[in-house]
Amino acid sequence: MKALGIDIGGSAVKGAPVDTKTGRLLAERHRIEVEKRHSPAQIAKVVGEIAAHFKWRGPIGVGFPGVIEGSFIRSSANLHLKFIGCDGARLFGKATGCPVAMINDAAAAALAEMRFGAGRGFAGKTLILTLGTGVGSVLASQGVVVPLELGHFPWKGGKDAEKYVAASVREEKDLSWEEWGCRLRDYIRVLESLFWPELIIVGGGVSSKHAKFFKYIKPRARLVPAKFLNQAGIAGAAMWARS
Ligand code: BGC
Repeated sequence: MKALGIDIGGSAVKGAPVDTKTGRLLAERHRIEVEKRHSPAQIAKVVGEIAAHFKWRGPIGVGFPGVIEGSFIRSSANLHLKFIGCDGARLFGKATGCPVAMINDAAAAALAEMRFGAGRGFAGKTLILTLGTGVGSVLASQGVVVPLELGHFPWKGGKDAEKYVAASVREEKDLSWEEWGCRLRDYIRVLESLFWPELIIVGGGVSSKHAKFFKYIKPRARLVPAKFLNQAGIAGAAMWARS
């Protein structure tokens, strides 16, 4: 069983065909850079280009960095505000000529990690955080994956927490690994006091550098990097299209 997985992010759209029975990418992922000012029509064109790159005909799963209800996009913190209210399946379906299933980007990553990655075989309460342009958050337990919006948890001074702890903030503010790691420690400490996960999986591109910042976090739960690193979103979006 195959599907094309597409992961829309705040800085790039990435996609690859995936074997949804194993979560394996069947070709090298194709990545096209985008910016926040790009309209839904421009991003849809990019999604169409990725499908065309693989000459894809078949189901497509699209992970989007916002709240998804059915096929509708309800929030867009790191992409154009015109996405809010869009029917994503319709927009991206038109651009690709293929059937599209929509899912929150972090929920897609969590599906892949819980089924084939760092959470494989673990049924206990798991918090999955994806650190990128924003902060994606998902709670998983007994095979059920629930997307959350903990990146928008009001943090010091009432700002969204992701404005302090996203991986993009470390780069923009040129924070040391220790400074950023300590911000994450404080954030994760609050999340632990609310959700009490047994396992925390950290994904996003920065998870490949986990050795540089995990040592500052010191959580109660077991802390592990995502096994799929930054490709979980692609694998999970494809799995969603086949579910
Ligand atoms: C969005 C979430 C998304 C996360 C990671 C947040 O700003 O609100 O829906 O999962 O960024 O992209």
